[in-house]
Amino acid sequence: MIDIPSVQWAGANAVKAMIDDVIAENLDVEKIFSSSKSTFRIADLGCSVGPNTFVAKQNITDAVQQKYQSQGFASQMPEFQVFLNDQASNDFNTLFASPPPERPYFATAVPGSFHGRLFPNFSLDFVYSSYALQCLYKVPEELLNKNCAAWNKGRVHYASAPDEVAQAFTTQFTKDITAFLDCRAKELVVGGLMVLIMPGIPNGIPHSSSLTGGIFDFLGQCLMGMAKEVS
Ligand SMILES: C[S@@+](CC[C@H](N)C(=O)[O-])C[C@H]1O[C@@H](n2cnc3c(N)ncnc32)[C@H](O)[C@@H]1O
Repeated sequence: MIDIPSVQWAGANAVKAMIDDVIAENLDVEKIFSSSKSTFRIADLGCSVGPNTFVAKQNITDAVQQKYQSQGFASQMPEFQVFLNDQASNDFNTLFASPPPERPYFATAVPGSFHGRLFPNFSLDFVYSSYALQCLYKVPEELLNKNCAAWNKGRVHYASAPDEVAQAFTTQFTKDITAFLDCRAKELVVGGLMVLIMPGIPNGIPHSSSLTGGIFDFLGQCLMGMAKEVS
């Protein structure tokens, strides 16, 4: 059986090298320092209830501290403020009941959708999001309309569906990611950094052959079976 949170855990760990490189190569410590800012603000968008979010935050704060040290600013380390965002329905109580005891940052919950504005202009130094951007803002309406070529017959995914279904999902994703990027463009400081992790498949691989496609197809069949039993 495939354990989805473990896949995300593996992803969060594999991305450590990417975070290290992004910060080592692009974080302009001298500019931050000359602006007299003493707080480095990080947002995790779609953080869920942990524990992956805490691993990622540790990786980011470690890499920033490393960069400060390598640039000769070891004695002027910033304080870290971490914003943990998810939908308002997320279990923030569980999340905040289990933080690592010695976390080197102040943590704040930010409930709300990342498809809209969550932070003031130019207030974030680093945006991180892991396995959350694939969640669409809404189900495309044509998937539910029996008279449309994109009617998805109750399925929850496009893996074994006609091209029109995949196209409807693509159109919604394009709107969603555009809204997400527009918001973050306003919220990040100039020179701010962003690491986004999303499941994907290489071009040319049929949807039905992808691992996630197979998982969601199977899950969808179970949900449809359960729905039939209660109806
Ligand atoms: C699969 S979990 C990933 C959790 C964690 N980031 C990780 O890597 O383990 C996806 C999370 O994204 C959140 N999410 C989905 N859409 C969202 C939105 N529009 N705004 C904020 N969070 C969202 C979900 O509530 C869920 O907690």
